[in-house]
Amino acid sequence: MNNVIFIIGVSGCGKSTIGKMLSKNLNIPFFDGDDFHPESNVLKMSSGQALNDNDRQGWLETLNTLAKNQIVNNSCIIVCSALKQKYRDILSRDIHKETKWVHLVGSFEQIFKRVNARPNHFMPTKLLKSQFDTLEQPKDALQIDISLSPINIIKTINKELMTTSQFGLFGLGVMGKSLCRNLANNGFKISMFNRHVEGVEEDVAKNFKAQYSELSQAEAFDDISAFVNSLQQPRRIMLMVNAGKTIDYVIEDLLPHLSENDILIDGGNSNYTKTKERCDYLKTKHIHFIGTGVSGGEEGALKGPSIMPSGDQEAYNNVKVFLETISAKDNNGLPCCTYVGPEGSGHFIKMVHNGVEYVEMQLLAEVSTILKILGQNPDEIANTLDSWKSTASSYLLEITTAIFQKKEGDNWLVNKILDKAGNKGTGNWTTIASAQLGVPSTLIASALFSRYVSFYKEERVQLHDNFKTIITSEMNITTNDVLEAYQFARIINHYQGFKLIAEASNKFAWNLNLSEIARIWTNGCIIRSTLMEDLVEVFKHTSNMLTNKALIEQVNQYKPAVKKVVSQCILNDLTTPALSEAIQFLNGITTTYASANVIQAQRDYFGAHTYQRLDDQSGKSYHTNWN
Ligand code: 6PG
Repeated sequence: MNNVIFIIGVSGCGKSTIGKMLSKNLNIPFFDGDDFHPESNVLKMSSGQALNDNDRQGWLETLNTLAKNQIVNNSCIIVCSALKQKYRDILSRDIHKETKWVHLVGSFEQIFKRVNARPNHFMPTKLLKSQFDTLEQPKDALQIDISLSPINIIKTINKELMTTSQFGLFGLGVMGKSLCRNLANNGFKISMFNRHVEGVEEDVAKNFKAQYSELSQAEAFDDISAFVNSLQQPRRIMLMVNAGKTIDYVIEDLLPHLSENDILIDGGNSNYTKTKERCDYLKTKHIHFIGTGVSGGEEGALKGPSIMPSGDQEAYNNVKVFLETISAKDNNGLPCCTYVGPEGSGHFIKMVHNGVEYVEMQLLAEVSTILKILGQNPDEIANTLDSWKSTASSYLLEITTAIFQKKEGDNWLVNKILDKAGNKGTGNWTTIASAQLGVPSTLIASALFSRYVSFYKEERVQLHDNFKTIITSEMNITTNDVLEAYQFARIINHYQGFKLIAEASNKFAWNLNLSEIARIWTNGCIIRSTLMEDLVEVFKHTSNMLTNKALIEQVNQYKPAVKKVVSQCILNDLTTPALSEAIQFLNGITTTYASANVIQAQRDYFGAHTYQRLDDQSGKSYHTNWN
């Protein structure tokens, strides 16, 4: 990959000298930014006036165009003071991943002395001072002390920029491997690490590198120290190891090898509270920590996942180009990756994503079972689901259709699979979090508990004989009723998921942007769907989906069908907890006078917990002696 190396720093730091030497050393073209000023800037400067941001705008854009044109054919070096971050943003526009920064750093006295020692040079103190005042420290640049000899500066640049890796991937499981290939396919120079476990995990990184041509430039390690030392500083290391205690062990293993300002990214399904703890802990060690949700499974990780990073925003800016480049892209070509918010908010929304995923999966399981009861075989179920694509398109609908088509010999594979659903814990955490936050995520709980019920296979079989299954009526519903019930429940599911996110955002002051969250879930992730695409716009105007006119109309339109389907299922002893919960929830959340008055009276009766009265708006608490 061709790169542009911007050598930056205050006037007099030696940019041009170093730039020219490096250009010879690397045999790539050199450009002095000062040669590209428009006539008006030259006139202004020669009349002794300082340039302002407006004067610089066009000039920086010219340098950006120069860089873009150059790197089509070759790498190049451009020197330019680029003291402000916004100048650097213009210089690297559209070429972030091809841009490398070298910042020549010296003290005021050192530079002042140097410049004024040059023959025919005099820099007034005021001018140099204003340069130092303007300088905004670049965070992602290779910082080089100008006290080093020029030759040593060149050597350092060569070592750090040309041979070291830009990004490290720790843990080569299924997801880690796919992310490595994705990064390498996007032209990033990466280092990959997998531990050595005698007889179990041997030469994993080396063998993986040998397997794929895109990894020819990647470095493979099973030694932590060598891995860390192969990375450019500040180091960027993404951990793709099992969530839980393993993350803490890995952090401890890495810590002795890291330097201040290095960045660790946890890309696993970690618990958001742990992510905050790890952030705080690593802050004490001067290491940045970013917790990020990554969704899309193996294929998503390879071709473009949805990425949900949170934590230290400054550190995020330093890894942004990597994460955004490898992520999926939305309908407008924008990355399905955005800085979500502080602390563990990225892992929180990934957790809720998985909760919503559990429900979407459960609903598809329920509706396909209803279709089966309606007499459809797996091929017919697949056809029905396929026909729903035009109104209810989603990734999960698509894969469920394919699942029902899959045959093993003469029989459908789906019918041979043991009916016990597994889980890795994120649905459990979502349910716990919603209970802790006091948010009624009833569908997520219901989908989770359905998996738990499924797990009691032996007891289910045993109890079946004790309770007669009474078919009281024919299933008096159409496939269109089933589709509408499904659509209804999906809207309620998304309402509950985003409600949970909105409440957490308020409680923890995360200031999350629901529309952006929906946007990064429109592609790459497991719950991508046309409904999610609609929600991007909906959440631009409200944080409550059920106040949106179009969605209100849909819910009202689908409600008769869900009532019919759920009651028919109950009459036929068919268990459909998520569909049932959807209509129960809508009835609950739209009830103006709920049964909670009775609960309050009961609480006051046995525990003197008091109650408030409808005829007293002051919020006063009342207690009655009920006997
Ligand atoms: C994703 C998935 C992914 C994983 C789940 C499965 O977004 O890519 O959610 O994270 O498949 O962890 O969770 P269960 O094993 O709990 O179903």
